[in-house]
Amino acid sequence: MNRERVLVTGGAGYIGSHVCKALAGAGFTPVTYDNLRRGHEWAVRWGPFEAGELSDRARLDEVVKTHTPLAAMHFAALTYVEESVAEPATYYRNNVAGTLTLLEALRDNGILAMVFSSSAAIYGVPETSPIPESHPKNPINPYGASKAMIERMLQDFDGAHGLRSASLRYFNAAGADPEAEIGEDHDPETHLIPLVLEAAMGLRPEIEIFGDDYDTPDGTCVRDYIHVDDLAEAHLLALKRLLDGGETLFLNLGSGEGYSVREVIEAAREVTGKEIPARTGARRPGDPPVLVADAARAKKILGWAPKRAALETQIEDAWRWHLKHS
Ligand code: UFG
Repeated sequence: MNRERVLVTGGAGYIGSHVCKALAGAGFTPVTYDNLRRGHEWAVRWGPFEAGELSDRARLDEVVKTHTPLAAMHFAALTYVEESVAEPATYYRNNVAGTLTLLEALRDNGILAMVFSSSAAIYGVPETSPIPESHPKNPINPYGASKAMIERMLQDFDGAHGLRSASLRYFNAAGADPEAEIGEDHDPETHLIPLVLEAAMGLRPEIEIFGDDYDTPDGTCVRDYIHVDDLAEAHLLALKRLLDGGETLFLNLGSGEGYSVREVIEAAREVTGKEIPARTGARRPGDPPVLVADAARAKKILGWAPKRAALETQIEDAWRWHLKHS
């Protein structure tokens, strides 16, 4: 059977690879397009791999003509907030200009449906909590600004060329696939849960809590952790909706529950049975105190219901992967 193909840029990355697995499970063939600078070839397991840069229009055309995908899913991006502040040009060139090249290639090859990996970083410091999609977009760093600019380009490409898209604004992606075939492996790692688990494994001496004097119940920052498999499921639902003719949309993806840094560390202690030494350090510049999604719209429009939302489940799955992968 010739299964329908979907072009997945960044399919060798953390979220992209989980979406590839979900696509394959739903009967699609994911075609991963990735430069492997931050992704991993071992994570490409559910379809062909095509090496390439987002900026390489000729290569994009070649891959699209070879595989004739019916849609695209776009994950390829640089994603470190701090790095984006230090090197804005790199972020705007890769994320914004790279996406523009991709959009032109899709348009010119008649691929008019795309799911886009957006971020809660487009909102900046929230004025309300939980954050609805209608919240003003005030990104406070080039990473978030690059995602907001891409959302704007997507709106304009729909208006002018009929390229319909779903921008999915993730809150804090966490966990790993329950079979522990793939998981989170960033270099350098900056995210809380993998760092806490590395401390549990003795790979780092302790976890540093970035500030405990915020205006939150225990003084540490509150985030909305969402399981990467639940994110993957939402991508599939968004893809199917676009393929059925659905209009361009922008949706938050989160569990709607906030957990503090201390609560995450405590949950990890319970899951792993390890002590996990923690030390309070200075605030990390640019961290909003609370980031929690109002995800009612994704639930209503996509019929999405996160299945692995419990923080313990997310940490258990990540822990299984870390033990296997280390
Ligand atoms: N934290 C610590 N110690 C650490 C690492 C993180 O205390 O060693 C804290 C952070 O200060 C933050 C929370 O743990 O309060 C979560 O931090 P992460 O780095 O795991 O995630 P962020 O909330 O900073 O980042 C997420 C996404 C980004 C996105 C951002 C939007 O991972 O891609 O939300 O603000 F840009």
